[in-house]
Amino acid sequence: NLQVLKDQFGRKHDYLRISLIEKCNLRCQYCMPEEGIPLTPSKFLMSANEIGSLAQTFVDMGVKKIRLTGGEPLLRKDFEDILANLSSLGVDLSITTNGILADRFLPIFQKYGLKKVNFSLDTLKEERFKEITRRSGYQKTMDNLDLFIKAGFDVKLNIVLMKDLNEDEVVDFVDFTKDLPISARFIEFMPFDGNKWDRSKLVSEKEILGAVGSEYGSENLLSLPDEDNMTARKFKIKGFQGDFGIISSVTNPFCGTCNRIRLTANGRIKNCLFSNQETDLLTALRAGEDVEKLILESIFKKKAVRAGMDNLEKLSDPNLHSDNRSMIAIGG
Ligand code: GTP
Ligand code: 5AD
Ligand code: SF4
Repeated sequence: NLQVLKDQFGRKHDYLRISLIEKCNLRCQYCMPEEGIPLTPSKFLMSANEIGSLAQTFVDMGVKKIRLTGGEPLLRKDFEDILANLSSLGVDLSITTNGILADRFLPIFQKYGLKKVNFSLDTLKEERFKEITRRSGYQKTMDNLDLFIKAGFDVKLNIVLMKDLNEDEVVDFVDFTKDLPISARFIEFMPFDGNKWDRSKLVSEKEILGAVGSEYGSENLLSLPDEDNMTARKFKIKGFQGDFGIISSVTNPFCGTCNRIRLTANGRIKNCLFSNQETDLLTALRAGEDVEKLILESIFKKKAVRAGMDNLEKLSDPNLHSDNRSMIAIGG
């Protein structure tokens, strides 16, 4: 007799994002400081069985979709055990990855029915990849992207746009989907600890649509209907096989239909990407305490928009979010 995950605003939470690890093989500027972040000792991270057990509780409470995130989720040594545990829950499984290790895991994804793979890739230029990620890996990512598309996975690209860095690639990315059955999603740069966010570095939804419209002509730019609980507003260029989307968390948030709840690698709930209120489920699980009750209490505290930062002024005030985590330890 578990209760479903409805918050005060009637939003039903049926999408769980589980961060598996705080480590990454890249160092993307928008995600983490160059020197990295202090890592949680591994005994305080969820084991494969603990992930399975907490996920089971969420599924009993109505979760229908689980996305694995990181850090880079494929760096987990026990990734296959985790996926095996989750696949027995009978929910929709997906992953967000930088793709560098993806080829090794392709057969494992197929074995356990994980078909939806979002690749983080912010540039189509090798030199620029090094600048943004502070590491190499461009060719490997591109090869793996190609491999997954050919193998028939449902592939999306996540492109965080930043002024004077990659904003000039909007049209190149849209062109990239001309003959590929994928969705390229442009993401507005969001503020997190250690990423030197500044409102002036943001490339807005309006600017993105402006660039696309002037390249292809507004008569060729079609707006697609909103999907339920979407993060990306979707568009298509007439005649293109793929489409593109814009995730405008900053200038045009989509919190009204938020169905997402997050579990960090150290087993804490974050009821919003921007919320610094965390609820420690892992300690409760280990102590045999009532995890469901904690989950319901957390959902009850969820705010209507961006953890209370409902306008751009509040979001831009570092005092209001400086104690949030770095993105690498949230998972997006
Ligand atoms: P789909 O299931 O394919 O729609 O993926 P997704 O968009 O839910 O997940 P993904 O991990 O690919 O995230 C893409 C971008 O959307 C990242 O920058 C996330 O931080 C952002 N994002 C995902 N969910 C939320 C959310 O609930 N709120 C906000 N503000 N951003 C989100
Ligand atoms: N702003 C917007 N998106 C971000 N991501 C990571 N950091 C940020 C940020 N500061 C994206 C990554 C990844 C997804 C999970 O989150 O590109 O694809
Ligand atoms: Fe949901 Fe928070 Fe994202 Fe808004 S900012 S969509 S409330 S997670």
